[in-house]
Amino acid sequence: MSERRTGAWLKSLRRLSRQVGLYPTGHPLTMEALQALRGATDDLVPEGGQVVISATENAFYRNRTIMPHVSLEYHSFIRELDERGVESMTAIHPVTDQDLLDLAAFLANVSGDFPADGSILLNERYLTPEDLEAAPTSELRRSYVSSLDALRGVTGTMTTEGRFEMAPVVTAVEGLFEQSVTQSSASLLLSTVKSHDEYTFYHSVNVCILALAVGRMIGIDRKHLIPIGVGAVLHDIGKTAVSTSVLNYPGRLDQEQWKEITLHPQEGALAILAAGGPGHEISATVAFEHHARFDGAGYPGITRQRRPHVYSRLVAVTDTYDAITTRRSYRRAETPNHALNALLGGMGESYDPDLVRTFIDMMGIYPPGSILEIAGGGLAVVVSKSSEPGGPLEALLVRDGGGRDIEPEHMALEPHQVTGQLLAEQTDIDPAALLESVETSVQAV
Ligand SMILES: [Fe+2]
Repeated sequence: MSERRTGAWLKSLRRLSRQVGLYPTGHPLTMEALQALRGATDDLVPEGGQVVISATENAFYRNRTIMPHVSLEYHSFIRELDERGVESMTAIHPVTDQDLLDLAAFLANVSGDFPADGSILLNERYLTPEDLEAAPTSELRRSYVSSLDALRGVTGTMTTEGRFEMAPVVTAVEGLFEQSVTQSSASLLLSTVKSHDEYTFYHSVNVCILALAVGRMIGIDRKHLIPIGVGAVLHDIGKTAVSTSVLNYPGRLDQEQWKEITLHPQEGALAILAAGGPGHEISATVAFEHHARFDGAGYPGITRQRRPHVYSRLVAVTDTYDAITTRRSYRRAETPNHALNALLGGMGESYDPDLVRTFIDMMGIYPPGSILEIAGGGLAVVVSKSSEPGGPLEALLVRDGGGRDIEPEHMALEPHQVTGQLLAEQTDIDPAALLESVETSVQAV
């Protein structure tokens, strides 16, 4: 699928651009980055053809197709391109190494020259207003990006000043809340967006989206749900107080290091209390107790002998689910189904049994974004769970029985047709990238 190739190309372009900004041409790391971009370019640009990558205010397009996942994952790159006045890049086969280097140098602002060989052209007018209007989930993406921005801002000022402003976080969570009401299935699907480079930011926003959805399902009102969402977004903000050497320590932590890590819930809670804002005591409680177990174990230790607050128990469930389904440097991502089983296994000890049941009820046995192998061959991606228990799932057929990629096609998938489940990284499929094509059919549920 082209979205993955576009993502790989942007990633290698950004890497090369950072390299040429730091080291002279010919540096081994620069040559390595060029080699990677060379490969990604060969994958992206068809023989004898051309590809136009455009960057609009909040989205990347490949030719005329919006790339929703890539737009979120590389949205900070959209801004870097904007700062250099780049709206589109047209890559024409065969793209020369020199042009790749020139483009990277131009983006890094170490050179004002456009690619000289002419195999990459900048700012050829391409997208029409009609193309831009055809992107229906821009509001949802905007809320997601605002939340990432808010969290980046908070992390920045927490690191430099030990404090932060609450208002942008509340506004961002309110946006996610509105979207979860009007586009509940689409926002759940959006929570399958992951980033390896900025794991914590994307993870925290996903934990928030999922917590808002569960909270709505169990009838928590908006007044309480917004602070819960804020607590979910900020649950790990106290990690800014932990030294990076401990946070990134590759081996087993010694007692001292572990003690430092376990302070992050209270550091986060204190910072939230200091920042204030509507219902901030709730947000602080969530941050304080997100590692407390249902049975009172876990940390901070003062929660022994009593259960954490139900709001914290809720966030503990969504935090675990998103963490398991996300790839980390030390382990692969697991399937949504695997994550649900982990929650089931920890029911009553680590997790609140009622909330685990509610969560599974909400997500279905095959949560949105699951990639399923179906009887007779073929692959389908789950869009939303069935409206009645045991009924068919709403899914998109993306590969036919012969193993060929096809234009996504809506289908009602009976659970008994499912023969297996795959990880996104085992396929060339990006579940969140299908968002745009399903959005028109998934309205408020
Ligand atoms: Fe944490």
